[in-house]
Amino acid sequence: MLNVQLAKSLMKRWEAFPPPPGEDAGEFQEVFRHAVFVNGTEAERKAIMLASSESKYRNELAYPWDHYFGRDLSSLLEGKVALDLGCFTGGRGAAWFERYKLGFLTGIDVKQEFIDAATQFARLKKISADYRVAVGEKLPFEDNSLDAILSYDVFEHVQNVQYALGECHRVLKKGGRLFVVFPGYFHPTEHHLALATRLPCIHYLFSGETLVRAYNEILEERGEEAYWYKRSSPKMEPWERGNTINGTTLARFRRFIRDHDWEVVLHSRKPIGSIGRNVSKMRSLALLSRPFGVAANIPGLREIFLHRITYILQKGE
Ligand SMILES: C[S@@+](CC[C@H](N)C(=O)[O-])C[C@H]1O[C@@H](n2cnc3c(N)ncnc32)[C@H](O)[C@@H]1O
Repeated sequence: MLNVQLAKSLMKRWEAFPPPPGEDAGEFQEVFRHAVFVNGTEAERKAIMLASSESKYRNELAYPWDHYFGRDLSSLLEGKVALDLGCFTGGRGAAWFERYKLGFLTGIDVKQEFIDAATQFARLKKISADYRVAVGEKLPFEDNSLDAILSYDVFEHVQNVQYALGECHRVLKKGGRLFVVFPGYFHPTEHHLALATRLPCIHYLFSGETLVRAYNEILEERGEEAYWYKRSSPKMEPWERGNTINGTTLARFRRFIRDHDWEVVLHSRKPIGSIGRNVSKMRSLALLSRPFGVAANIPGLREIFLHRITYILQKGE
């Protein structure tokens, strides 16, 4: 209990709030639980879905995820049938489709409203795509049926990474490739408490359970205004190590890679400060990228200093 109070007071010392829906709505899945969406007219709901897709589309155009891999991925993806695993409202996938000249894009995510938004956006952009509700741990595709899977900032949220990686292996054709980017558990700012606090590294000091309780209390104190971004259940799920995250580290992910005959085509080790949309805005981060780059190559330390866990994995022939 004392721990919860201590965590809470630290979090509140650097308290943060989400922007109201309408401003940067696309960055937040939570907007789909706000009354503006839930009780909106058909036209209002469609406008929110579009704003969400557009926002991710523009992000991807402004800062292509190719940066994470340190190379242009076009030659590996042109004409391919690809899955966007964890597609959200389809904006990023639409940008991928256009940049890489994909042959066909299919997408899955866990909520019908995300799928509706992605479908609406694909129609608007006139791209060959379909979307459906599913989870990464049980992909609705035949064995050996896809050329490529692209997944950005999703593997930290799936309930079982080992199953999800196994499913990717099952549905890819032999020689097919998985392009995966996601933050490791010990990334300083990826504790997924950002709707309540800006304080980095707090998950090094407290357990996930303590932090989730502190987070719940902070949002509770905000009263009615916070209803739309509260956790769906205050209690932690058995698979959660932190708020909505499974706690996967690079070391653990590497163990799961060994479960199947994956060939590692690329393991990118870009440190914090060298990459990401905020780097161009924060010069101090860019200056730190050199020492961080050294740390990102030292076992143990790299769990903290790697910007993202980033791999291209190829299914054995
Ligand atoms: C941080 S968002 C990233 C969305 C999108 N990939 C992008 O880059 O804009 C994480 C996404 O993972 C989805 N997700 C969570 N659990 C999932 C699961 N088990 N299988 C598939 N997607 C999942 C969420 O619904 C959410 O859309």
